[in-house]
Amino acid sequence: MKVFRKIGILSSGGDAPGMNAAIRAVARAAISSGVQVVGIYSGYEGLIHDDVKDFTVRDVSNIVNHGGTVLFSARSPLFKTKEGMDAALETCRRHAIDGIVAIGGDGTFRGATDLTAHGVSCIGLPGTIDNDITATDYTIGFDTAMNTAIEMIDRLRDTCESHARCSVVEVMGRDAGDIALQTAIATGATGVVVPELSFDEAALIEKIRTSRALGKRNFIVIVAEGLGSTFGEELTTRIEKETGVESRFARLAHVIRGGVPSLRDRLLATRMGEFAVDELLAGRSNEVICDVNNEICAVDIDYALILDRMYKNKLKEGDLDRFTKEQIAEMQAACARRRANIESLYATVNRLNL
Ligand code: F6P
Repeated sequence: MKVFRKIGILSSGGDAPGMNAAIRAVARAAISSGVQVVGIYSGYEGLIHDDVKDFTVRDVSNIVNHGGTVLFSARSPLFKTKEGMDAALETCRRHAIDGIVAIGGDGTFRGATDLTAHGVSCIGLPGTIDNDITATDYTIGFDTAMNTAIEMIDRLRDTCESHARCSVVEVMGRDAGDIALQTAIATGATGVVVPELSFDEAALIEKIRTSRALGKRNFIVIVAEGLGSTFGEELTTRIEKETGVESRFARLAHVIRGGVPSLRDRLLATRMGEFAVDELLAGRSNEVICDVNNEICAVDIDYALILDRMYKNKLKEGDLDRFTKEQIAEMQAACARRRANIESLYATVNRLNL
């Protein structure tokens, strides 16, 4: 079995609260197992440009409670080229890096797969506020982002109540509506619009009109950014015009990507980070660590990426060729479960918005 002398940690793609807790867990778990650790800065860019630092246990002290990522983050188009990969492999050789734990989203996992194919064992940790990695129920950062969003939306509700207004609030999530749906429930929103489901605008307008006539003063409508950059503002204009309720648009944007990580994100990141190191040291690689039914487990990265494409209706010809019938059925069931969950959350918002 491969003997690990040193492992590297990097964070890549959009940052997410809880990444630091993951970095700490990976570093401490490795060092406690007698393996040296290097921090790789700015994602795969740091590997290409040899921006790495040997870590002691103290290098990850006092970070568990901070947002962002002490290793910084970047997206690296250069890493997709042969030149970039050669430079990254040279850095691994120079520092005797035998394995890497990469924290990020699907782009990060594709990089990890490429490195694994070149002999550097890699494990991915799902770090993104979007919760858009189909193989895992929760990603690191999702919970904190939603907690920040509901705090902001609760404030908007206060001022809506004073002025008898409607706030249309756009939340991040890339193409996924998870943040929008869950924050809509938690803030008692009147409506929510997500890219995954069709939206009955006439019903929302009618709901606002009749509720206002019956004395309701504040209205919150949450829209996911995946609907497009103008959707929220245009909807705001239409709501005001059609209902007579003064309406304002607010885009929370990157605000929800920062801030002190929640207990749930710290716990998830820590459990996943520790698990990742144990997987690496047990000789396994090319895996993404997932939370499925509150159990931390490992899923093959190729499987996870194709499952993602299946869920997002982006399968390419031949994508399923290397999987067994059972695996394909399992993927279809996972997609169906996720869709059912989204539909159920949506139904809850619309049932309770009386
Ligand atoms: O993936 C995290 C995320 O914040 C998405 O919600 C959003 O669509 C995107 O990243 C924004 O990217 P950037 O930080 O490059 O503006």
